[in-house]
Amino acid sequence: MAVIFSGIQPSGTLTLGNYLGALKHFVDLQEENHCYFCIVDEHAITMPQDRLKLRDNIRSLAALYLAVGIDPKKSTLFIQSEVPAHTQLGWMLQCVSYIGELERMTQFKDKSLGGKEGVSSGLLTYPPLMASDILLYQTDIVPVGEDQKQHLELTRNLAERFNNKYNDIFTVPEVSIPTSGSRIMSLQQPTKKMSKSDDNQKAFISMLDEPKTIRKKIKSAVTDSEGIVEYDPENKPGISNLLTIYSVCSGRSVEQLVEAYNNKGYGDFKTDAGEAVVQVLEPIQERYYALLESDELDDILDDGAEKANLSAQKTLRKAKKAMGLGRVHRNR
Ligand code: TYM
Repeated sequence: MAVIFSGIQPSGTLTLGNYLGALKHFVDLQEENHCYFCIVDEHAITMPQDRLKLRDNIRSLAALYLAVGIDPKKSTLFIQSEVPAHTQLGWMLQCVSYIGELERMTQFKDKSLGGKEGVSSGLLTYPPLMASDILLYQTDIVPVGEDQKQHLELTRNLAERFNNKYNDIFTVPEVSIPTSGSRIMSLQQPTKKMSKSDDNQKAFISMLDEPKTIRKKIKSAVTDSEGIVEYDPENKPGISNLLTIYSVCSGRSVEQLVEAYNNKGYGDFKTDAGEAVVQVLEPIQERYYALLESDELDDILDDGAEKANLSAQKTLRKAKKAMGLGRVHRNR
């Protein structure tokens, strides 16, 4: 039985990319493993957030985790800020990280393109906090989308550095990235990742978009003028992205789809791809709205925080001792 940990930021309604690259895979993992799924609200505040919206997004994300099939009897579902050990170990790992390696993180570079004056220092020190999330639970495997690969490499480096320098405390985690759907692209600029923070609403499908909006967004996705359904991410990024989405949502392979739409043009293909996405998201949405209104949600999160605190405290205690923090009680 392996320990699994993954987190998602409550920084807006999740996209189809979050679902296909991450959430979808969490559900199967919980059968055989010890899983921790976290709502990483302390990561979300590295960017400006409206207080009330953040609260809503936290609750909404908890309901979404459950709506896709996370079972609180099998997995620990909790909110990061309700387990103080995350920021405590996060600080300790910041002191083990080098400014140079943090400045090399692509996400930091992208988000600070407009200059470093208006960017929070939390954006720079975010990866050691992410490492702390993972290492606190002695995690074996971290399922994430492709964009988190670099942060996972840093996590492994920090764990090894800490283990060598102080004491062998942390399990060095492996990353698990799905073979298909790990990088869903924008529907409007298919060379760019699909992101919930895109200004153009047509660029992403939100997990809570109404069926008619989903169909419309897929219909208006940017493709090319060739009219041939083919998988060629380099030269035909738009149609290739839709093929990936359609394939992962329907369970049919890309090859089968290419064959089925041979000589059919993009119209039919897009209609059916949109339908496949609706088939996946509609039942999740129904469960989501029922859960959002229930009291059950608070009980599940209370229980999750309690369990997570217990495990996290154990590792934190060992890491503090290894670093020489606090004191050893003379009378005990
Ligand atoms: P976040 O909140 O940006 O994304 C959550 C998960 O969704 C995946 N993802 C995608 N997958 C495929 N295509 C896309 N277009 C796409 N966009 C996002 C992400 O790879 C991720 O798995 N730093 C993390 C949150 C985090 C975390 C952790 C993850 C904090 N601590 C510990 C794992 C373990 C983040 O910002 O993900």
